[in-house]
Amino acid sequence: MFDLEIFDMKLETEVIGRNFIYCDEIGSTNSELLAGKQQYKKTGTVLLAEKQLAGKGRKDRTWHSAKGLNLTFSVLLTKDLITKLNVNHINLAASLAVATAIENLYQLKTELKWPNDVLIDKKKVAGILTETSIRGSKIERVVIGIGINLNQIAFHGEFNFPPTSLKIELKDDIDRENMLAEILNNFEELLLDLESKPKAILNEWRNKCQMIGDKITITENDKVKTGIFHDIDDDGFLLLKRADSIEKIHFGDVSFV
Ligand code: BTN
Repeated sequence: MFDLEIFDMKLETEVIGRNFIYCDEIGSTNSELLAGKQQYKKTGTVLLAEKQLAGKGRKDRTWHSAKGLNLTFSVLLTKDLITKLNVNHINLAASLAVATAIENLYQLKTELKWPNDVLIDKKKVAGILTETSIRGSKIERVVIGIGINLNQIAFHGEFNFPPTSLKIELKDDIDRENMLAEILNNFEELLLDLESKPKAILNEWRNKCQMIGDKITITENDKVKTGIFHDIDDDGFLLLKRADSIEKIHFGDVSFV
């Protein structure tokens, strides 16, 4: 059971997570917040589900997470906040918030994989799916969905990157309330910083991405491209160096060669 009182004691934010909705089972926390129902209108709303029946991953994959053991939640950002920010930056900042929370609370070294996977020792501990709802030509809502493996110790299925959890890494039970509060505290701070100093946040992201300079493969739908991970640009897109040219990559899965 998720202890709301403990979570509330640890939460230090002004906006993010102040409207907190907890549910036992749901299709997908992302889909629910994107639908824009009345109770989910406030910017900063966080919806946490113990179990998602149709949890979504990037590129139409499914996100599986055992009931009650991990964290599967989404954060809603609405117009007032997002007009000042770049959605790609928000996406990168979310992965930074998770990685920093793991390092702060458990002193485990994390690595970021573009665009937003969090790895420990080349194994995936968290994934993020950022989705938007658009009205006319304007983004109306941004939903940042985060799945982080905390206390699950067995994973079944096929994975791009082998999964891990904090319990596997630390051989100890992980406090979900503390972790969620820490992630949200970090995320709010990063969002504020994104407004005033986006370049510094991009640099923080770069520092945690050990693949920059490495030979990588990008799979974009069924196209596979190999090159050197040159950098990310000011918008957070990946720059792939191939022969003499640098190609901007908007979507795709990165893997090591
Ligand atoms: C990925 O690595 O492919 C992204 C996984 C994102 C999973 C989270 S769990 C909470 C939120 N709701 C969803 O349906 N997906 C995201």
